Amino acid sequence: MNEPELIVEPATPADLSAVLELLARVELPAEGVAEFIESFIVARDAAAGGRIVGCVGLERHGETALLRSAAVAPEAQGTGLGLCLTAALLDRARAAGVREVVLLTTTARDFFARKFDFAEAPRADYDARLAASPEWRLLRCASAVCMKLEL
Ligand SMILES: CC(C)(COP(=O)(O)OP(=O)(O)OC[C@H]1O[C@@H](n2cnc3c(N)ncnc32)[C@H](O)[C@@H]1OP(=O)(O)O)[C@@H](O)C(=O)NCCC(=O)NCCS
Repeated sequence: MNEPELIVEPATPADLSAVLELLARVELPAEGVAEFIESFIVARDAAAGGRIVGCVGLERHGETALLRSAAVAPEAQGTGLGLCLTAALLDRARAAGVREVVLLTTTARDFFARKFDFAEAPRADYDARLAASPEWRLLRCASAVCMKLEL
């Protein structure tokens, strides 16, 4: 197998099915991905025909944004790609004038806390601001930890 040649860049609508496939592999929800696909960042492996091996998305709701769908293909996990994608997304959000980034997680609390200084926050604080978010409303996320980061 060739060494991966990773390119991290904004997604396009043409990436939707590959992003959904990746999310299914790591058991993350598909709801709302289509409507926010152009606010996703993807990692492509140029050595594998541009195959998408990582993604992360941002749903913007005014000055608050929901970071969602952080996913790295199982065979590429643990190589720094999740860090790279998340850092790129936060830089992009900051440049676009987002003031606060919120996320829900059941599996990666320490990743966001240790590497990016996200702190736990009461979920109810954001129910009004993120009411339009399909991911936020998902029942299966009801037990997830809510975290926030001021940019
Ligand atoms: C969470 C995820 C995106 C991280 O991506 P990754 O490329 O595997 O992570 P990286 O290689 O960039 O990890 C960098 C560091 O974070 C740590 N880390 C990775 N995943 C972690 C997790 N779930 N919880 C805590 N720490 C984690 C690594 O141990 C590493 O620490 P180190 O630098 O001290 O050695 C990836 O593992 C994934 O897709 N998981 C399944 C889907 C998921 O749970 N997504 C989160 C939804 S909110």
